[in-house]
Amino acid sequence: MENESQSNANVAIIDLDIQDIEGIGPTTAKKLKDAGIISVMDLAVASAEELSESINATKETAASFIISAQKLLRETNVLDKEFVTADDALQKRRSLLRCSTGSYALDDLLLGGIETQALTEFYGEFGSGKSQVCHTLCVTAKQPIEAGGLNSSVIYIDTEGTFRPERVEQIARARGFEPTEILKSIAVCKVYNSSHLELIVKDLGKYIDDFKAKLVVIDSIISLHRAEFSGRGTLADRQQRLNGMLHKLIRLAEIYNIAIVITNQVQSSPDTFFGDPTKATGGNVLGHASTYRIYLRKSGENRIAKMMDSPYHPYSDTRFTVTEKGADDIEEQTPKKGSKRSTTTTSASSKKKEEDDEEEEEAQQD
Ligand code: GTP
Ligand code: MG
Repeated sequence: MENESQSNANVAIIDLDIQDIEGIGPTTAKKLKDAGIISVMDLAVASAEELSESINATKETAASFIISAQKLLRETNVLDKEFVTADDALQKRRSLLRCSTGSYALDDLLLGGIETQALTEFYGEFGSGKSQVCHTLCVTAKQPIEAGGLNSSVIYIDTEGTFRPERVEQIARARGFEPTEILKSIAVCKVYNSSHLELIVKDLGKYIDDFKAKLVVIDSIISLHRAEFSGRGTLADRQQRLNGMLHKLIRLAEIYNIAIVITNQVQSSPDTFFGDPTKATGGNVLGHASTYRIYLRKSGENRIAKMMDSPYHPYSDTRFTVTEKGADDIEEQTPKKGSKRSTTTTSASSKKKEEDDEEEEEAQQD
């Protein structure tokens, strides 16, 4: 449920003009406009480095504009005050929106689903279900908030050419929804190279406003950069570019109160023969950027999801599967809240044995 300050905030955003910002007059406003920065929100999410280049000012000046824009958003309750008491912070966390993944088990792992104001990363090997989770989110996000959705449209940035509207249609039908409205509410952008992706991310604030999206999916965040910046000499450049995009994404998630989901690959044996095959690519840059990181892997017909990094979730794991409904619960497990558990739930001892078998399997693969 949107709280009062959030709805006040929405009114405030509409009323704000870039010239309301301290130190910005008509001349600077024009320069900003020429650089594509039209609203206070655009400026608040900009990076000082990029802005200084595009308006031909020093980095300090650019940074002071950004800080002033953020200050104005704080004064008008769009952004949180710099210091809030812990009880207010707790209140706010409780009012965050959460979007169901389609699987109750996976939602439980995420303590209720994909969160707004956060960057959630799913990583895993090919076929582990990353894109399937993303497709399912396209359907669940459109559902009302009371039904575990965000009641909103979705921006889907497809860098691998794997978005399939037919699959969304199938997932919607299998879940008993009429697909037409759902398909209309997904804005898909097929991205061809890393510069194109950077450009889209740079202008994402406008697209979020235009499409009124509360969920942005980027499947995958790294494949293009990984393919284009493959030599050792270019690694630093690649990491810097990734870093710029990720920081922008975090600011967007927080300032626009939206959920951002990114997918990432695991390091595979050809380039890191002795590396950990379960390690996400992108190194520390990605590791530090994502609020939540979930590792997905195949386990026979099913999938195992592990919470790898989170400021407050326990390090636990869960199982789910992929069916015609997209990401879904394994039938005999179904931990749907309030529903009675199936009598065929695996016993703790047989589950333990299954886990031991898997660990052995993993050890053999190493
Ligand atoms: P990469 O993008 O290659 O790294 O993999 P990914 O993790 O995105 O894999 P993805 O989510 O595309 O998962 C593919 C797997 O999902 C397939 O191997 C199938 O097991 C399953 N899957 C895909 N479509 C369907 C479907 O329509 N029905 C069912 N039951 N399973 C599906
Ligand atoms: Mg995929």
